[in-house]
Amino acid sequence: MEQKRSGFSGKLGFVLAAAGSAVGLGNIWRFPYLAAQYGGGVFLLCYIILAVTFGFALMVGEIALGRKTQLSAVSAFSTLNKKYSFLGYLAAIVPMIILPYYSVIGGWVTKYLAAFCTGNVAQAAQDGYFSNFIAQPGEATLFFAIFMGLTALIVLFGVEKGIEKVSKFMMPVLVVLSVGVAIYSVCLPGALEGAKYYIMPDFKNFSFTTVIAAMGQLFYSMSLAMGIMITYGSYMKKNVNIESATRQISLFDTGIAFFAGLMIVPAVFAFSGGDKSALGQGPGLMFVTLPKVFNSMPGGGIIGTVFFVLVLLAALTSSISLMETVVSIFIDKFKWNRKITCLLVFGGCVAVGLVSVLGYGPWAEVKIIGMQMLDFFDFISNSVIMPVVALLTCIFIGYVVKPATIIEEVEQDGAKFKSKKLFVVMIKYVSPVCILLILISSVLNAFGIIKI
Ligand code: PHE
Repeated sequence: MEQKRSGFSGKLGFVLAAAGSAVGLGNIWRFPYLAAQYGGGVFLLCYIILAVTFGFALMVGEIALGRKTQLSAVSAFSTLNKKYSFLGYLAAIVPMIILPYYSVIGGWVTKYLAAFCTGNVAQAAQDGYFSNFIAQPGEATLFFAIFMGLTALIVLFGVEKGIEKVSKFMMPVLVVLSVGVAIYSVCLPGALEGAKYYIMPDFKNFSFTTVIAAMGQLFYSMSLAMGIMITYGSYMKKNVNIESATRQISLFDTGIAFFAGLMIVPAVFAFSGGDKSALGQGPGLMFVTLPKVFNSMPGGGIIGTVFFVLVLLAALTSSISLMETVVSIFIDKFKWNRKITCLLVFGGCVAVGLVSVLGYGPWAEVKIIGMQMLDFFDFISNSVIMPVVALLTCIFIGYVVKPATIIEEVEQDGAKFKSKKLFVVMIKYVSPVCILLILISSVLNAFGIIKI
């Protein structure tokens, strides 16, 4: 059945919706724990440098590919060059891996929101609350299914109505609230030391893993290397300026990640009495730390509730974009009906997501290359497939369709591509070499062949 491609109404709509995809758990949940773990200020600095150079180049490239072809990832690559259709499929695998485990974390957020709504702030702030919760598969599955179901429902309503409306109303509020909570966190007794650790780069903390982690996070956070921006680009009108839209999206995305880190990292210092080992907690960091911040705050119950509502919305706009990508791939490819496709994708995700839920509970013993299931899915997508897709996308743009194709698309409707030179140098030379180095070392490291 033929489906008409719906579109975003204008620049603001596009920027907000794409920023809605980019800003999500990656910024609020993943960025702070990585920054805490990988050297604070050094990680932040690496991340920002990567974001303004190749994050920028890759995003411009992907959006332009989508807008030029008016197709989602799989078909976009094959239309431009038959030999590269595999790249579209490879990119398409990433959201399929991420969506299920992303929704598991979305379920954790839903659970905390429920706890805050019902006034259980003090309990949620206790040590052990988080670990007890994830150890029980029943509750974790229930909340995961709720989150997944919400995502599926919104995707059913289509691009304009669903995504655009939610994003427009949510993003500004999230910015204001994050800044407010960050200021409060930094003012907690003992937090200043943490703020220093988070902001001032100390090169003693630098290691190769810092760069690897920062790069994986960049792809994840900006929704790159998985066909998402290609799909979004395909919905974008020709008169919208791709370059400035990209700048605004990265500014939004990096800004929110920065403030999320500032809400969480200093608070970790404050509540652990400066014990640095608390920084290495990994995925649980936000869930363990933030309730303590809210619990210590006058009116923290209400502020915390509002905060978790916003995180939930931010997570939803991202999971929607993940699901929208998966669904539109099936629709474009097989011409399936939207409703049925949504239902099938929902079912598949629930099945796969269960593996991640159980991996933190009864299956905690089952490990793949030393990782729990959820961490393994995260590793495979962020540290393996995404760098491969990013590398091939650079080669595709730099040497197959040639940067001129992208430049022409960016300069549609009289727009001027200001960072044209930076774009070409990044796409053709710098990014491919860096990604290759990082990819090889991260895989060797995971298998214990080298230690970095
Ligand atoms: N980029 C979003 C975030 O930072 C999440 C996301 C990840 C969306 C992967 C799409 C793909 O949370």
